[in-house]
Amino acid sequence: MANLRLEGLRKEFRDGTVAVRDMSFDVRDREAVFLLGPSGAGKTTTLRLVAGLEEPDSGSVTIGDRDVTHFMPRDRNVAMVYDKHSLFPHLSVRENLAYPLRIRKMSQAEIDRRIASVLETLQIGDQIDKMPRQLSGGQMQRVAIGRALVRDADVFLLDEPISHLDAQLRARMRLEFKRLQRDFNATMLYVSHDQLEAMTMADRIVLINKGRIEQIDRPQELFDRPQTTFAATFIGEPAMNILPARLAEDAGRAHLEVGSSRVGLDREWLDNGGEPLAPSEEYLMGARPQQMRLAQPGEGGDGLVHGKIFAIEVLGSRVVFDIEFGDSLVRVLTTGDEARRYPERIGAPIGVRIDARYVYLFSKRTARTVRQARFTEARLAA
Ligand SMILES: Nc1ncnc2c1ncn2[C@@H]1O[C@H](COP(=O)(O)OP(=O)(O)OP(=O)(O)O)[C@@H](O)[C@H]1O
Ligand SMILES: [Mg+2]
Repeated sequence: MANLRLEGLRKEFRDGTVAVRDMSFDVRDREAVFLLGPSGAGKTTTLRLVAGLEEPDSGSVTIGDRDVTHFMPRDRNVAMVYDKHSLFPHLSVRENLAYPLRIRKMSQAEIDRRIASVLETLQIGDQIDKMPRQLSGGQMQRVAIGRALVRDADVFLLDEPISHLDAQLRARMRLEFKRLQRDFNATMLYVSHDQLEAMTMADRIVLINKGRIEQIDRPQELFDRPQTTFAATFIGEPAMNILPARLAEDAGRAHLEVGSSRVGLDREWLDNGGEPLAPSEEYLMGARPQQMRLAQPGEGGDGLVHGKIFAIEVLGSRVVFDIEFGDSLVRVLTTGDEARRYPERIGAPIGVRIDARYVYLFSKRTARTVRQARFTEARLAA
């Protein structure tokens, strides 16, 4: 195992697409780092640069103390798992697993020992003599992962290895991966566009967008203290609500004007950040759906905005109200019991209460966070 370091990597394809711009981060020895971002963000390209399947225009890749930027893929000692089923169809599970060891001229005894250990961890022992076409999608994927793990690679690279599995199997594989990573003490760079996967499995997340790093943090930190509107809305389900807001002061008390409503701000929230706020600036207010409360149409008071019900999604014990508010759509997450106290009818008027302690503030100009919420106990999914 070893550290992996990417320094100033840039990749422009021949057609002029810049897939990766100035990518710098490290994966420490035995750490699981997730490269998370939307489709087209440059995740696969970054992984291929590390594996040596693409040549960077500039920047370097270091594994341990070796600069491998210009090494051939086979000389880098990395193991890669793709999203596609990459098993040899004419070889049994056992021979698929043995293949990477045979080409390294390992003794049969050592091959047997390694395969036994991987089989146990992946719980595919009873599939050992089957051919790939006799396996389910999940079993195939496990063999593909096993084939990477049998090698003593310095770094494991995984490109959405479980994204095409069904939801139940994905949930199980998430847990298994955590155990695998611990058992194998693997240094892993794992690509995903699924925030839930990254939030549950990563030691740290490198969040990227359009080939650029938005934020590098531990999962909970990324959720609690997003540095940009992109990070704030990408992490969390349902996504954080973002509304245009103005800062105003009245008799020494600061508040945010959101539409025709006011959200009173407390001193601690205002002091919870570096740069001074200016009433002339345009801001965006962020509030998580878990931290907004429904209110009856007639209710008034601080932090109350009024809108109309646009849609209602019932998700078992959770209910999401989509509420039209001016030009914006606000989503409020509530429980079934709570929802029943309100008109569950499209077009009905309804109030939403915003709690100033849970509010984020972003500069509209820079899209950067200028104030973090004081309280953040909302989790990924309530
Ligand atoms: N060989 C290529 N030639 C030209 N453009 C490419 C090539 N490969 C990738 N791209 C472009 O580079 C950008 C990043 O692609 P990449 O495959 O790295 O994204 P990704 O984050 O892995 O997306 P996804 O989640 O959809 O897999 C995209 O705009 C893509 O169209
Ligand atoms: Mg990809």
